[in-house]
Amino acid sequence: MSLLAVENLRVVYSSASRAVTPWRRNRRIEAAPAVDGVSISVGRGEIFGVVGESGSGKSTVARCITGFITPTSGQIRLDGTLLGGRRSVSDRRRVQMVFQDPYSSLNPSMSVLQAIREPIAVHRLRPRGEIDSRAIELMRLVGLDPSLRHARPRQLSGGQRQRASIARALAVEPDILVADEPVSALDVSVQAVILNLLRDLRANLGMSIVFISHDLAVVSYLCDRVAVMREGRIVETGDADEVFANPIDAYTVELLASVPPHPWDAPNVGQINRFQLQENTNASSRH
Ligand SMILES: Nc1ncnc2c1ncn2[C@@H]1O[C@H](COP(=O)(O)OP(=O)(O)O)[C@@H](O)[C@H]1O
Ligand SMILES: [Mg+2]
Repeated sequence: MSLLAVENLRVVYSSASRAVTPWRRNRRIEAAPAVDGVSISVGRGEIFGVVGESGSGKSTVARCITGFITPTSGQIRLDGTLLGGRRSVSDRRRVQMVFQDPYSSLNPSMSVLQAIREPIAVHRLRPRGEIDSRAIELMRLVGLDPSLRHARPRQLSGGQRQRASIARALAVEPDILVADEPVSALDVSVQAVILNLLRDLRANLGMSIVFISHDLAVVSYLCDRVAVMREGRIVETGDADEVFANPIDAYTVELLASVPPHPWDAPNVGQINRFQLQENTNASSRH
């Protein structure tokens, strides 16, 4: 059985109809759904990609899975349990979100250590005396040097901030991470580091990840299976290798054609090193 099952999700933002036609406010006008008929299933230890251009409904799907919004219709099950719109604290804990902008989950006035220890304390996941050591353990897990524990978010690099927000998400020991464009704001070299961190989390913790991106290269690098979204619907889904090697849907073909060559668009890390070598070669040949 899949860990996460999203069935026939439909979301109509009610504010959209009012915003578009304020003069007809009293008439019931059905806005176009932001998401319609979306079904996905994610297995344990699987990295599932959701890809599509801006406005295709990816973040709306993420908000439904994490419980930030309640879908107009459709169901979300985690390990067979129905997750409703109003979730219990323990159900909320099981699905954690990683955002494009780490400031969304990091309080600027809190140190890295405070940010990671807070959810551990709130959910009483460790005895008081062990919370700090657990937070340090999580810093190590995401590749943050414990010497950074007193740093504030603004004192960290973009990659370090994203590591800290991933550590905070992991602090509550979730079943699944929903990462919405987690590397889109980062430099390419840092993107690779964060993508490899997500891979390691899957390998070492068996973490399941819904990975959302508009960037096909990133998705093909990281994900086992993908769903391609367009205008709120899934137009194609399957094994990532299959979908990207032999796209069936015209839109996927179009998306693939528009992908600029990506430095680390490769099935393994070795390619990243090759690219770096290439970069160096180019740099030296110019002199
Ligand atoms: N809070 C909202 N209210 C009204 N419409 C929204 C809201 N959020 C998103 N939308 C609309 O829903 C559609 C899907 O948006 P979104 O899920 O953010 O797409 P993506 O993440 O793929 O860019 C877009 O047409 C967007 O304008
Ligand atoms: Mg989005």
